[in-house]
Amino acid sequence: MNKKIISPSILAADFSNLQAVCELINQSEAEWIHLDVMDGVFVNNISFGFPVLEAVRKHCRKMMDVHIMIVHPEKYVTRFAKAGAEMLTFHFEAAENPQKIIDQIHEEGMKAGITINPDVPVKVLEPFLNQVDMVLLMSVFAGYGGQPFIEETYERMDELKKMMELKKATCLLEVDGGVNLENAPKLFSHGANVLVAGSSIFKAENPLEIIQQMKNC
Ligand code: DX5
Ligand code: ZN
Repeated sequence: MNKKIISPSILAADFSNLQAVCELINQSEAEWIHLDVMDGVFVNNISFGFPVLEAVRKHCRKMMDVHIMIVHPEKYVTRFAKAGAEMLTFHFEAAENPQKIIDQIHEEGMKAGITINPDVPVKVLEPFLNQVDMVLLMSVFAGYGGQPFIEETYERMDELKKMMELKKATCLLEVDGGVNLENAPKLFSHGANVLVAGSSIFKAENPLEIIQQMKNC
């Protein structure tokens, strides 16, 4: 059985008290914290950048899982490392030379993740499966929290898992977007190792309980 990792996305949390959000995650069964950096160019939304990551680093003891939705990711790898990122996941679509970025991320001592939007064929990831530490399959189009889960994700996961088997790849599989208590069991059974969840955790009355249920589903 896969190890089940929950990575709460703070995009849906209350930014007026970031320290409390970090403390809640510290107390929870989530092993990671998911941080969505958006630049208003790669996606039609702007979220937050280095100062927020540094503030989270100060208060959060969990693994910093940073998902960058930005153009020219290669320019900022060192800055993300300095800001406390431990897993840095960039978009294949935004990368001129994905292998070079993977190498840069590793040189900075971070784990490297690669991700694609739901309309990009899974096949494009094949050359990188033995190079990355994680593949993130987006189950909504990157840019906003609170969107509905795209059901075709399960088929994409199966296709990716087959490719990984053929290549004997051991990278983790993360799924991000519209994840909730209803679809979490099916996502784990299709091979997800890490589930990102924003709205379903932070818009709930009791986020700790949702994390606990998701982790033990
Ligand atoms: C979307 C982000 C997600 C988002 C998930 O671009 O990558 O991490 O915060 O939010 P929910 O769980 O609300 O779909
Ligand atoms: Zn994300």
